[in-house]
Amino acid sequence: MKHFLTTSDFTQSDLSLILEKATAFKKGNIADKPLQGKSIALVFFNPSLRTRVSMQVAIYELGGNAITLEPGGNSWTLEHREGVVMDTDRTEHLKEFVRVLSRYVSAIGVRTFAKLQIWDEERQDPILRSFAKYSSVPVINLESAMFHPCQAMADMLTINENYNRQPQKILLTWAWHPKALPMAVPNSFLLAGAAFGHDIRVAFPNGYELDENILETAEKLAAESGGRVEFTSDNISCYEGVNVVYAKSWGSKNFYGNLDAEAEYRKNLRDQWRVDSAKMAITNNAIFMHCLPVRRNVVVTDEVLDSPRSVIIDEAENRLHVQKAILSEVCG
Ligand code: CP
Repeated sequence: MKHFLTTSDFTQSDLSLILEKATAFKKGNIADKPLQGKSIALVFFNPSLRTRVSMQVAIYELGGNAITLEPGGNSWTLEHREGVVMDTDRTEHLKEFVRVLSRYVSAIGVRTFAKLQIWDEERQDPILRSFAKYSSVPVINLESAMFHPCQAMADMLTINENYNRQPQKILLTWAWHPKALPMAVPNSFLLAGAAFGHDIRVAFPNGYELDENILETAEKLAAESGGRVEFTSDNISCYEGVNVVYAKSWGSKNFYGNLDAEAEYRKNLRDQWRVDSAKMAITNNAIFMHCLPVRRNVVVTDEVLDSPRSVIIDEAENRLHVQKAILSEVCG
């Protein structure tokens, strides 16, 4: 049994096989129903459009049955801390929840965002890790505090489709957002991009450095794959020569637990870090990518989002195909 928690748990060859399989699903070349007679639980602690719908559709189209649970909504509120006295409003412990689910279903997908409160705790991804620890069936990460591997695989497929599977020069740029957001998407994009040999420039203002363990892993993966990872705080020259622009906002680890101070710290960055046509014109006719949902004219202008070089809808569609490949690998 293998969980799918982060792409860096897999070799480049494993990841390439998943992308090949995703392409075959997309082309309609796989008629198998590997989930026939199986049920998959999807546990959503947070809202979703793409992940929820694409997982439910993928499971249905693979012959399976999806059961979506929302702790605190249609299932009990959950406690994940070990050894606590459960006298708060949390009704059930993850130890029971996950072990019981494992007796009913063939895999468990889980979405559990960072709360951006305690950096040292959240960077360990405690809820995702508890699912993995107590589950006796594969766990698929549908976005956790630190990783969004299904998104990253859809991103890699989208880049492959646009550039004939050749490694590319990519800009991963921070963007201003009305509220601080988790780092799962940039972390996973960086790790997957490095594993596939891309040359990735990460641009962000001072104070928005990603987790040091993620950076170390990305640099190691890039060294193995022939890729490269570089960093800049120059929000204009970072666009020079790139073929892909990937925009995403993320919060500062320096301000976990103090989000009002974080908002004050970044208040002057709003206009400088928006992606617009002038910046895209500096690139090598780059495609524009974003995981969605996106704040129009805040993160990126309408003109860029609606341009022929925007691939955001293909990128969202590719979630369906890569998740079919992942589901069929982990529980087929
Ligand atoms: N990109 C992504 O995961 O979208 P949702 O939050 O809508 O699932």
